[in-house]
Amino acid sequence: MKKVLLAGLLGLATLAPLTLSAAEKATLPKGYEKWEKSKQQVITDKKSLFYGIHYTYVNPKAMKTYRTGGTYPEGSTFVVVQYSIKDAGGKPTEGKKQMIVLMKKDKNFKQTGGWQYAGFNPDGRPSGLDPVSNCYECHLKTAKGTDFIISKYADFK
Ligand code: HEC
Repeated sequence: MKKVLLAGLLGLATLAPLTLSAAEKATLPKGYEKWEKSKQQVITDKKSLFYGIHYTYVNPKAMKTYRTGGTYPEGSTFVVVQYSIKDAGGKPTEGKKQMIVLMKKDKNFKQTGGWQYAGFNPDGRPSGLDPVSNCYECHLKTAKGTDFIISKYADFK
């Protein structure tokens, strides 16, 4: 009984600092540029978070579930790189890189549905967005039925 209680306390003690420091220490995975990549996604709605041009990168671990649906395995990772739109004679082209976002399946992130959410500046440094209110709430509302993944594999073909 005493042992169980102790284990519980230790569990709690390590959990709280873990979520904090993990969010602070978020880093972009090496070599994501070589993962499977979506077609160029152009969003012209100025009210959209992704207003601009973006590409979604998906790591090999996540690809099977991305194609067929279901629950993603640990380590599944998505990266979105977003650029501003430059209008080059009617045809939208990429301007400056503006934002990078990451979702990585990690069971330690209980507050955000078992996914780590992180935002980065164009230079790859964490932008310090709150993963719950700035990220998870929208993904929860939009994509609860697809393990919080909103984009579609159809956009890769
Ligand atoms: C207002 C709603 C909203 C908010 C807030 C939001 N997202 Fe998303 N997110 C989306 C939409 C919509 C897509 C799909 C875009 C597409 O179809 O290419 C998406 C896609 C993604 C993807 C690619 C995987 C997927 O779900 O398709 C990642 C990674 C991601 N978002 C991370 C984040 C992070 C990190 C934050 C917080 C910094 C965040 N998002 C905040 C709406 C949101």
